[in-house]
Amino acid sequence: MTVDMTNKRLSVAPMIDWTTTDYRYFARLFNPQVYLYTEMISTGALLYGNRERHLRFFEQEHPVVLQLGGADIDEMTQCAEFAQQHSYNEVNINVGCPSDRVQHNKIGACLMAEPNTVADLVKHMQAAVDIPVTVKHRIGIDDFDSYEFMAQFVETVAEAGCKRFIVHARTAWLQGLSPKQNREIPPLRYEDVYRLKQDYPELIIEINGGIETIEEVQSHLQHIDGVMIGRAFYHNPYLLAEANSLWDQPLPKRSEILQQLYPHLRAQVAEGEPLSTMARHYLGLFQGLSGARRWRQALSGKPSLTIADIEKAADEVLALNPDA
Ligand SMILES: Cc1cc2nc3c(=O)[nH]c(=O)nc-3n(C[C@H](O)[C@H](O)[C@H](O)COP(=O)(O)O)c2cc1C
Repeated sequence: MTVDMTNKRLSVAPMIDWTTTDYRYFARLFNPQVYLYTEMISTGALLYGNRERHLRFFEQEHPVVLQLGGADIDEMTQCAEFAQQHSYNEVNINVGCPSDRVQHNKIGACLMAEPNTVADLVKHMQAAVDIPVTVKHRIGIDDFDSYEFMAQFVETVAEAGCKRFIVHARTAWLQGLSPKQNREIPPLRYEDVYRLKQDYPELIIEINGGIETIEEVQSHLQHIDGVMIGRAFYHNPYLLAEANSLWDQPLPKRSEILQQLYPHLRAQVAEGEPLSTMARHYLGLFQGLSGARRWRQALSGKPSLTIADIEKAADEVLALNPDA
């Protein structure tokens, strides 16, 4: 199945604690095309916390999108301006997170019940910046789970100026399920996302949730404009390399990726960044190959980890898999 990727997009989903700048630098080594999202960053963290630390990223990460969690118009507008000043390619509003903490602050998935609030956010943020303001949302929340509910939400927010919607194709159940269960238990309804694209062909609609292979990506792209993948890319980063086939680009080897990674690690360690914090993102590098477990064991939970330890573990696994 071939796909013309000219107007299509593949992206790595925002994931708290996972899609940090360290992870994104690593992910970029596998694939030059894919869009990378930050984890959700709250307006409070940017306005009152260590803003520069939260916003920092490496040049190589482009195209990179800042995902914001918030609902206050002034705060969200100010944070969108920070995104633009820091050269992010896009700013995305989180309307999908179901955790109690964000519900308490009236941000995340519960905002689906307030399309006018999200529309106001989009209107003010988009007026303040030139980079696109986009929205990531669910197909519904709790009993508001009809196609019509989602379509009404999207229509209202689109009228305010949002053109790109990333739809996690599950309802969020705001009571009784943990965020993790909310990524697994509510059934996936891809058809609703396809229908959204059919009904609003002028909008850019991306699909997310439970997508695990490049074949699935190709199949979705027959219907919609983009695919976002979270867990499958994180747990098996080499899937990002395999995705190069969508753009007819060559498949980099893991050994080549490591050769690019080592100088970066040396520079980061020299700046005082803890190696074990970076290395936790590399555990899936050899997923599915012999020696994968040994690699994970060599890298995990070792505050004293050195670059030499990583090189040694990699050489051992590569000796078992010379073509990797
Ligand atoms: C550890 C973790 C953290 C997440 N954090 C965020 C987040 O910060 N913002 C967000 O919009 N979604 C977040 N999500 C949801 C993902 O972006 C994505 O919508 C979800 O995992 C479904 O896609 P997948 O099946 O491809 O993983 C998170 C998911 C995981 C696993």
